Amino acid sequence: MEAAPVAKDLEAGMGTRRALARVNLAAIGRNCARMLTELEPGCELCAVVKADGYGHGATASARAALDGGASWLAVAGAREAVELRRAGFENVRLLVMGALSPVELREALQAGAEVVVWREQDVRAVASAGGGRVHVKLDSGMGRLGTRDPEQASRVVATAVDTPGVDLAGVMTHFATADDREDPFFARQLEAFSGWAARVKAAHPRIVVHAANSAATLRDKSAHFDMVRCGIAAYGMDPFGLDPIERRLEPALELSSYLAEVKDCASGESAGYGRRFVAARDTVLGVLPIGYGDGWRRALSNNADVLIAGQRRPIVGTVSMDNMTVDLDGAADVHALRGEAAVLIGARGKQRITAEELARRMDTINYEVTCGLTARVPRVHHRDGDLV
Ligand SMILES: Cc1ncc(COP(=O)(O)O)c(C=O)c1O
Repeated sequence: MEAAPVAKDLEAGMGTRRALARVNLAAIGRNCARMLTELEPGCELCAVVKADGYGHGATASARAALDGGASWLAVAGAREAVELRRAGFENVRLLVMGALSPVELREALQAGAEVVVWREQDVRAVASAGGGRVHVKLDSGMGRLGTRDPEQASRVVATAVDTPGVDLAGVMTHFATADDREDPFFARQLEAFSGWAARVKAAHPRIVVHAANSAATLRDKSAHFDMVRCGIAAYGMDPFGLDPIERRLEPALELSSYLAEVKDCASGESAGYGRRFVAARDTVLGVLPIGYGDGWRRALSNNADVLIAGQRRPIVGTVSMDNMTVDLDGAADVHALRGEAAVLIGARGKQRITAEELARRMDTINYEVTCGLTARVPRVHHRDGDLV
């Protein structure tokens, strides 16, 4: 039997795997520091590390964000909060932004996390689950969690203030269109929230008023209030789907694989399920052991490039669960490329492939690109190349 191909990509001392996500924690720290430059003194940065830190690893990302100046963390669910507490984030203020079943509510409160409420019964449920800090959510137009009625929201505020064991910690909303700079709905939401929040703040000056995600933070200072909740920008992706460099954001995640096989493909021969690539001329194909089982989506079949030896090479044929093929046509000494690293998200020399480019190709958003990487892809954390 032939020996397994040895990959040549040992650049950062991390070794090569069939698929590997290297996450630069120093970049996450710098992105948070960069977002802080947008804020007035006293306005806090809450780093959103839900969904395993948008696929980057929640614990490591949380540490990096706090190092970069974030002072709060936010997640979507109780389990995520518990995991952060277990990982040693014992004292940092931690907000669970999502809906909570009774079991999850108890879990979140026991972890000392703060929770979101919008009905009087939510406040009573918090009290019966042992009490804790609550943030009242006004639905100013997102149409998901929260109450659309400011009077109802004010009643919930009053109930929180009057209920023993419950602390009114904040009021909040969430924008539906902050990432669309042309859309006037953002301004309407901001106006609807601002008036109500100002009245609550006047009566309860110690509460934290918060509304902005990354896009709103970059777009409008009047949306900052006492704290902003940033996820996507912390990971160095652009909330508007454009090139992150334009807003001085630094992508933290690099996805790589390698050429496990290099093989000749004669004109008329095909590669992959469904024969969606048939060679129009003699060429050479490379096989990368990564596929949709790793979160490298099938929608990228015949629809993206990878960087090999500093050059863009097109994916040809169908992306399958564990493998995909690229066309190496014209590469010098092509068979010697066996074992060579392939960068699927990241930069080499002048070439860059961003999550934003992939999102455009798949008609989705950069969030889904990194969140979609599955547990099969090991995350290796480093700081500018030094393993942590
Ligand atoms: C309620 C809430 N706030 C803040 C964020 C962070 O958004 P972004 O990643 O766009 O900064 C999210 C993420 O979806 C969210 O659901």
